[in-house]
Amino acid sequence: MQESELPADAPPSRTAYGAAVHRALHQDLDGGLIFSDPLAWQVLGVDVAERERLVEQAREQDRPTLRTFIAMRHRFGDEAVAQAVLRGVDQVLVLGAGLDTFGLRNAAPGRAVFELDLPQMSAWKQSMLSAAEIPIPDSLHFVAGDLARDDWLQLLAESGLSKRATTVLWFGVSPYLAAPAVKSTLAKLSTIPGVEVVFDYATTDAGLSGEAKELRDRLGNRVAALGEPFRSSWGPDEMAALLRDLGFDEIEDLGPRELASRYLRRPGLRAAGGGGGHLVRARRTRWGE
Ligand SMILES: C[S@@+](CC[C@H](N)C(=O)[O-])C[C@H]1O[C@@H](n2cnc3c(N)ncnc32)[C@H](O)[C@@H]1O
Repeated sequence: MQESELPADAPPSRTAYGAAVHRALHQDLDGGLIFSDPLAWQVLGVDVAERERLVEQAREQDRPTLRTFIAMRHRFGDEAVAQAVLRGVDQVLVLGAGLDTFGLRNAAPGRAVFELDLPQMSAWKQSMLSAAEIPIPDSLHFVAGDLARDDWLQLLAESGLSKRATTVLWFGVSPYLAAPAVKSTLAKLSTIPGVEVVFDYATTDAGLSGEAKELRDRLGNRVAALGEPFRSSWGPDEMAALLRDLGFDEIEDLGPRELASRYLRRPGLRAAGGGGGHLVRARRTRWGE
């Protein structure tokens, strides 16, 4: 993101604002074909002229890889929640929520959605929603906490999260945490009975194509310049071993090739794959063994 793109009251997390802009641009530039989000523009609080300017700028920059990846991860998350609902899961936790609209789009009777983000970001989001006059469903609960420092599961419990089967959406956050914080986050999540966590992670260089490595490095430089550097990356085997050690026994890990064949072969879609990020869905189906 460039400074000039930011709203007057600048977001505490500029990468969160950037991700939300990509979701909005996906609606206009790719017809929302991978991930349709009716609130994507509204949550940004931009007027028509600014919307047109952002679309035009993105068209000129012609850098669809990150936009495509972000659209795919939220589609993957929505699909995981839909499957979980069929199993009777009625609690969703969005970790490092940023301007994610899941809890606003998915109010359903009996379903509780909890969002956790750093205190400043959580407060800023709520002020953005109020300015945009987006109603907040009773089912949505905002919790302020730091994944790297706080006893955030306790904070969530105090806000009503109960220890029952939960789908956790954790997108665009793990690369910004150091490896110990990623491990401790997954370890805490693994204590929720019937938990399923859906997240993305940045891969180590090994196995990345030259093009993917270049794209990842360029993105790394951009986010570092925004004050939110990447802090961890994982090999797929390393991530799978970590998850298995924590008791996750149903693991789906999609790399660039699997993501492209699952989400990008659509008539009329000109979005581009090619980045190195992976998406994971990991569930604990066995307890007390
Ligand atoms: C790139 S944004 C992604 C936001 C959102 N999940 C999305 O997909 O649009 C990263 C988010 O992680 C949050 N975050 C970063 N470090 C965190 C921490 N230690 N604890 C809680 N949230 C954190 C940031 O405030 C920001 O909202």
